[in-house]
Amino acid sequence: MRPVEIAPNVFEVGVRDWNIRDFHGYSTPAGTTYNAFLIRGETNVLIDTVKAEFTEELLSNIRAVMDPKDIDIVVSNHTEMDHSGGLPRIMAAVGQDKPLYCSKMGAKNLARHFRENWNLKEVSSSEEISIGSGRTLMFIETRMLHWPDSMFTYLKEDGILFSSDAFGQHYAGSEIFDDQMDMSELLFHAKKYYANILLPFSALIAKLLKAVGEMGLKLNMVCPDHGIIWRKDPGVILDAYDRWSRQETQNKAVVIYDTMWHSTEMMADAIVGGLVEAGVEQVRPISVRRSHRSDIMTEIMDAKVVMVGSPTLNNQIFPALMDVLTYMKGLKPQGKIAAAFGSYGWSGEAVKLLNAELSAMGFELPEEGIRIQYVPERDQLTLCHGLGLRMGLRAQGREV
Ligand code: FEO
Repeated sequence: MRPVEIAPNVFEVGVRDWNIRDFHGYSTPAGTTYNAFLIRGETNVLIDTVKAEFTEELLSNIRAVMDPKDIDIVVSNHTEMDHSGGLPRIMAAVGQDKPLYCSKMGAKNLARHFRENWNLKEVSSSEEISIGSGRTLMFIETRMLHWPDSMFTYLKEDGILFSSDAFGQHYAGSEIFDDQMDMSELLFHAKKYYANILLPFSALIAKLLKAVGEMGLKLNMVCPDHGIIWRKDPGVILDAYDRWSRQETQNKAVVIYDTMWHSTEMMADAIVGGLVEAGVEQVRPISVRRSHRSDIMTEIMDAKVVMVGSPTLNNQIFPALMDVLTYMKGLKPQGKIAAAFGSYGWSGEAVKLLNAELSAMGFELPEEGIRIQYVPERDQLTLCHGLGLRMGLRAQGREV
């Protein structure tokens, strides 16, 4: 796609990765974009690059606006390779001696990644540089949003925030701006991004957003490095980040399970019935072998109740479920109540092992869980229904 002038003399020159379906283990059915921005003026500025294999396309987009040699400075907001992979080729085209602005940690990381003799200019938070044409760039360090090197670049007079990964979505369409898309779809992609990339840093993100809020920046436009640009009402995504970073939960339960011969699935169905009867508004039964871990995590992020079911296989939890639990543990969801369940043939360790996993994640476990040998009978399914009912009532702070 051709560059788009998103504000006077500010161009989006990035690329669309239409066909990526796995972004380091995160499913991306709608692809993604690697956004980069070019500011034309007395000082021409390129903010961020793209994944290495798309660099020629980035250069072609830049050439549609200016000769790359006319770029005076480059800014690297973040060292991860989807935004810095194009730097060697870009710096060669722009001029190796041109200033490359980055955070202090960015300078360390760029040197480690690329071992190039670039003219790195470290900047710290609130540092400003004039780029002429009545414009100023301000840098805001955003450590752990989501790498130690991450920072925002703010085009002060225009109120445009180049926010790196923050506020982004893995979505590639023909749309550029939020007002060109269905908002619920856009927020779904933004939520999935938060749940799978940013969730473990939520406490830091909440503090950081508060500090940025206190700076009183005018925000006419928020330009992430992935997906759609927020210009209609950037407050929508800022409010969503406020909720997500506080790990606010809803009246919602997720029942994740794997099953060998449908017994654990029967238990899951009965538990779902109990949760619904308790008045849980959103109940999501999910078979882990039929759903991607990143979609499961998106559902879990704002759920109050997490029910986890596994048969016992060779004295262990089912591997597909362990995959999800390992992934979930790293993303550190908080504020959940949980319970385990599962069928077994003769040893039946899975429920005990699941309890240990859930406990290690800091989930509250008000029940010891239910394990049933072989195929559940009617009265045993009634017990499962009761477990779902009690968990659902607890989720709403109601009497059990
Ligand atoms: Fe989109 Fe952390 O890179």
